[in-house]
Amino acid sequence: MCGIVGYAGTAVANDILLKGLERLEYRGYDSAGIALVNSDGVHVYKEKGRIATLREKMEKADSGMVGIGHTRWATHGAPSQVNAHPHQSHSGRFTLVHNGVIENYQYVQREYLADVAMVSDTDTEIIVQLIEKFANEDGMTTEEAFRKTLGLLKGSYATALLDELNPETIYVGKNKSPLLIGLSDDVNVIASDAMAMLQVTNEFLEIMDGEMVIVTRDDVQIKNQEGDLLSRDSYIAEIDSTDIEKGTYPHFMLKEIEEQPFVMRNIITKYKDENENIKLDENIRQAVLDADRIYIIAAGTSFNAGLVGKEMIEKIAHIPVETHIASEFLYNMPILSQNPLFIFISQSGETADSRGVLVNVKELGHTTLTITNVPGSTLSREAEYTLHTYAGPEIAVASTKAYTAQIAVLAILSVETARAKGIEIDFDPMQQLGIAANAMDIFMEKKDELEQMARDYLSVTPNCFYIGRGMDYHVCMEASLKLKEISYIQAEGFAGGELKHGTIALIEEGTPVVGLATQESVHLNLRGNMKEVVARGANPLMISMEGFDEADDKIVIPRVNELFTPLVSVIPMQFIAYYAALHRGCDVDKPRNLAKSVTVE
Ligand code: F6R
Repeated sequence: MCGIVGYAGTAVANDILLKGLERLEYRGYDSAGIALVNSDGVHVYKEKGRIATLREKMEKADSGMVGIGHTRWATHGAPSQVNAHPHQSHSGRFTLVHNGVIENYQYVQREYLADVAMVSDTDTEIIVQLIEKFANEDGMTTEEAFRKTLGLLKGSYATALLDELNPETIYVGKNKSPLLIGLSDDVNVIASDAMAMLQVTNEFLEIMDGEMVIVTRDDVQIKNQEGDLLSRDSYIAEIDSTDIEKGTYPHFMLKEIEEQPFVMRNIITKYKDENENIKLDENIRQAVLDADRIYIIAAGTSFNAGLVGKEMIEKIAHIPVETHIASEFLYNMPILSQNPLFIFISQSGETADSRGVLVNVKELGHTTLTITNVPGSTLSREAEYTLHTYAGPEIAVASTKAYTAQIAVLAILSVETARAKGIEIDFDPMQQLGIAANAMDIFMEKKDELEQMARDYLSVTPNCFYIGRGMDYHVCMEASLKLKEISYIQAEGFAGGELKHGTIALIEEGTPVVGLATQESVHLNLRGNMKEVVARGANPLMISMEGFDEADDKIVIPRVNELFTPLVSVIPMQFIAYYAALHRGCDVDKPRNLAKSVTVE
């Protein structure tokens, strides 16, 4: 949530910062701003709305070779020009951008800034006003004032500060929010995510919580809270910049849906050794074997993948699993088993709710494993073990390829654990993933039909239901999340048998109900549930699997192993959500009110 960039170099920073913000727009897009330093001082440009609006405003902007930028997902204070970052101290000497939430900002304001009027409604502004206060009244250097201010803050921040009196330097602080420093010749940059600055460099330094960094074009000094200099090795970010471009696709979401067969094949390659056996860190295998119960912790789509993961691990590896919503688990932890293993599923690896749980369970001494698409991310760094999903950067806010990649990795983990336990498995998981990839491919050729279904069922409806049983119920949860978040249609995923216990009251003449039936033991029951809603006027869209299909079914997925059906059945649902949103004129890649990486609780 929110993204920050910074540049100190020898080129004009304007476009570099704007491009950086465009690449961070997935982190929030309520408002945006840039501050540039040149010989006339600091110039701030900020606007409510998308980066495109800021870009327009900056067409005639002053140029600078040092600057900072911000794209906002509002937490404190409505999206507006005044609440947009950068924020400036009253004298205009200090200018600051911030990603995160200052939990004790009211306390800090009361205790230290009672006599200082605030211009904005944000939690951020107190940081910059306090730095000025310490610099003015206590005669501190900027570095001292910045360090002292950061020391008083509770919460999360990745923040960058400019001082008009020291125009070559960017002061940077980090706690809990992601932050990287990019290195190059005669230029150093700052970014919430490496993608933002790949145009300048692919060499980065990770910054840890509590650290402060002083960045100029030819120097980067990392310091701890005491002000001692730290040394750190850089790493090369292995992201191909074409991965983060839309290419000829109209939307990232469409590109990412279509990439899924490739992602499956990529996972097969990455998780195989030279003898075609599954390649899995022995310590991870042992950690799963040692667990008497697995707790999967995740949010949103990753939580939905975790529901599928529970079924897979229990059915394949015979280990009991509980899947929990991170934000609930954080403040309401159930009684744990003796030897739990915690698996965190997170596309971004930055989700604050999941990280909160990770910190707590680590304190309790439990073993932790993160399944993520971003190996250098916070959850990956802080968990004991990491499994990479190899889906490539996911830019659209609505998650698609990360979901199927997470499920694929969970399948591999389940099978490897089962084999290590001596459980006989009558299928090869890699072959099944290959079959699923081929089945996915079939839907790439059926986009026109799926688009027509989206028109027929979802063009005008205010609501829609998805029902399934067992594994299909979990996929329905994901399908309904996809539809509601991008098309704003009120959509709910229900267990087929549960609808009649209340929710069926919402079915009216013409209400679309998507039924999913791919599981042998329950497909007939689900058909019975569909008959119940049809009898009450629902407009049914039935999705089944070959072998369980009937003449009126609108979509039939090719036959795959039952445990792998979510990988395939979700694909037509993703397409339908995409086209429904498109036809309703919604911003598919950047739905309202959302951000991709949710780094606040
Ligand atoms: C929905 C979506 C979100 C994320 C959720 C968790 O399409 O993208 O629900 O799944 O915010 O994010 P990660 O997986 O990054 O922890």
